[in-house]
Amino acid sequence: ATNRTFTMIKPDAVANGHAGAILDRIIKAGYKVVALKYTKLSAETAGQFYAVHSERPFYKDLVSFMSQGPIYAAILEKDNAIEDFRKFIGATDPAKADAGTIRADFAKSIDANAIHGSDSDENAAIEGNFFFSNFERF
Ligand code: CMP
Repeated sequence: ATNRTFTMIKPDAVANGHAGAILDRIIKAGYKVVALKYTKLSAETAGQFYAVHSERPFYKDLVSFMSQGPIYAAILEKDNAIEDFRKFIGATDPAKADAGTIRADFAKSIDANAIHGSDSDENAAIEGNFFFSNFERF
């Protein structure tokens, strides 16, 4: 069935000049862009976005990394979007990502891993709502 996922092109990929190439691959892979913005998380908003990870040992580094520079945030629509997009971007740890995936090609480390993809319908909705109002979705 058609569903929607949420993604961010993370500060490392934006700073390294890969955002255009990554967006191009996403669109060519058949994802419809429902919403898109170039923005920057503060330490406070990154902390809120990742609140689900607040008890994890990597939380502090994650919040600091994600607020260090601008990102692109987007809502994407496709048949089986959540599952397909996670395969398309590759494993969280780029050392374990399959060849040809976004993380294999653009990510440097488990923190600087270039891109985010929602892990469930429920989280895709929560994450999309964090960044976008109904007037920003088409
Ligand atoms: P993402 O799934 O987009 O959101 C949580 C992020 O935490 C994850 O990407 C990684 O970049 C980062 N992270 C750092 N260490 C870990 C870890 N051990 N397990 C999972 N995520 C981690």
